[in-house]
Parts: sequence; C-alpha cells; structure tokens
Amino acid sequence: MKFFVDTADTNEIRDLAETGLLDGVTTNPSLINKSGRNFLEVVKEIAGIVPGPVSAEVVATDHAEMMREAEILRKIADNITIKVPLTIDGLKTCKALTGEGTMVNVTLCFTANQALLAAKAGATFISPFVGRHDDIGFDGMQIISEIRTIYDNYDFGTEILVASVRHPVHVLQSAMIGADVMTAPPAVIRQLFKHPLTDRGLEAFLADWQKTGQTIG
Ligand code: E4P
Repeated sequence: MKFFVDTADTNEIRDLAETGLLDGVTTNPSLINKSGRNFLEVVKEIAGIVPGPVSAEVVATDHAEMMREAEILRKIADNITIKVPLTIDGLKTCKALTGEGTMVNVTLCFTANQALLAAKAGATFISPFVGRHDDIGFDGMQIISEIRTIYDNYDFGTEILVASVRHPVHVLQSAMIGADVMTAPPAVIRQLFKHPLTDRGLEAFLADWQKTGQTIG
C-alpha cells in the first residue's frame, strides 16, 4: 500500500520524505489555508520534494473554469495530480484531463456508487473520506470494502486512496482490505512507528549493552 501524507506543511513533508516511505502528497484548500502560504508556490515546492503524485485541488465548480485552473496547476510539475470534487462537472473534468494523460484524484467521495462513477470517468485515484463518515456515525471503512469489490469485479485501474484517515487503525484496515493508497496527516504516520514495547525493549537492550563495556568497530 502506498503512503501519501495529507498536509501542505513542507517541513513535515521533507522530514517524512527522508524515511523513504513517502509515495506522494495530498493537499486541499483547507490545508493550503492552514499553511498560510501561496497555493502555487507551496505546491511547486512540494512537487520538488516528493517525486510521487502531488494532489493540487481546483476550486472552481464549473467544468470550463476547472479546466482553466487545471491547466495552470499541471504546468507546475509532471507529478502534479489534479484534484477535482465528485460532482458532474468534476467528473467531466476528470474524463477530459485523464484523456490527455494528466493524473486526476477525485475527492469528496462518500459512497461506493460515487466511486464507480469516478472509475468510469477514468480517475487515477478515488478518495473516499473514511473519518468524516465515522464522524456522523457510519462505518467509513465499509465503503472501502465495497469499492474494492466493485473495482475488482470490473478490473478498474482507478486506485483507491483512503482519505480522511484519523488513526492507525484506519491504516491497518485499509491495508487489510487491499486499498492501493492511504493519505494521513503527519502525526498519524508518525504514530505508525510507535509502540511502548519497542521503546521499552530498546531501552533494556541499550542498558545491557552498556554493561558489556564493548563498542562496535
Ligand atoms: C484528502 O485528500 C483530504 O485532503 C483529507 O484526507 C481530508 O481529511 P479530513 O477529513 O481530516 O479533513
């Protein structure tokens, strides 16, 4: 499963990229706002840090204007993925852009039927938001299973990008279901490395090593 980070914080992205485990980045207008930086500048910087897909979202709601914005965004770098909302105009834009060889991430997906539409529109990625579903009392991961089944039934090439990931259990469940990608905030990715027994075990090993009085090399 590929790991994308969901942030526009370039310090965090640089730091996580050094682990060698980062396959891409997703941003959205709220994350750009949170960064306090110019959209085009920050996206360009991110695309230079991570060679994998970097999602940059259009903010227009009609097809013609989405195409105009996408034109500007995709010129920034070859790894820019245009993010469009799951609307009729968004899917029209998806079809047109993927037809021209541009990667498209269809966002704000909340049902398996919406994911079916995105696949038919040739989306590179579909982003079902699991956390926001959980927030209103539904099981977000159930939709990921449904989408996996549908995409496998018809051999769709669209990658399932689990979004709105809130905790490590979402990551685990995504991997168990066979999602292609998950995107999570930096803090959730850092949590994946952690276990108290790892820390405790390391402390004990190092304390015992000290007692040997030896050094390596
Ligand atoms: C995905 O691309 C979105 O940017 C993101 O995962 C939304 O997450 P949130 O529901 O925590 O805002």
